[in-house]
Amino acid sequence: VTDDLKRVTFVGGGRGQWIVESMEALVGRGLRRVERVAVVEGPFEYGPRQGAWRLRGVTGHERYVTRAEQEELRRRSSGLGRTEATRTVLIPIRKTSAWWELAQDERRAIFEEQSHHIQLGLRSLPAVARRLYHSRELGEPFDFLTWFEFAPAAGEAFNELLRELRRTTEWTFVEREVEIRLRRAVPP
Ligand code: HEM
Repeated sequence: VTDDLKRVTFVGGGRGQWIVESMEALVGRGLRRVERVAVVEGPFEYGPRQGAWRLRGVTGHERYVTRAEQEELRRRSSGLGRTEATRTVLIPIRKTSAWWELAQDERRAIFEEQSHHIQLGLRSLPAVARRLYHSRELGEPFDFLTWFEFAPAAGEAFNELLRELRRTTEWTFVEREVEIRLRRAVPP
């Protein structure tokens, strides 16, 4: 893991800067309901187990975007941590072995040509800021940890994006998905 990659551990339990407003299992097994989530950035620690669950992830390089899509995403994306972006959602996702057995070109075709993931997602930019962490290669229970931040006014557009994505062919390969809505315990 090189230095431009960000490592994170989400610790679900009784402490942390994020208050859990809701937790919902959309597909497959949920996660134990907790009061708080601590977001621990930096090297993974191997100390005593804390919290009811811990989810680790690392940012990585893009796998599916074309040059044109990359440029449009960069032009329209906002950064994390905007003060007005008080709504936060953490969605851990695991995909089926059938997905992982596909070839790269087949996954790209399902992801964008059939499911329009980027095209749908771009509609909610720059209102929604996002970060994708990879977990599968770490031997974690989820393959991805997705993180979103937006202002209350963008809440309905975000819900609509969720409904659209969950109707796609890509989502037929999702075997576990948990939606965790969070709010900051203290102002930034
Ligand atoms: C907010 C607008 C969104 C945009 C612009 C967006 C864009 C993208 C892009 C460009 C990728 C591909 C990264 C790569 O090439 O490796 C990606 C991957 C992914 N996104 Fe989104 N996305 C959005 C919303 C969402 C939402 C709401 C979810 C979850 C419900 C989600 C779940 C994922 C997952 C799980 C992946 C990894 C897919 C895989 O590698 O198989 N995205 N997204």
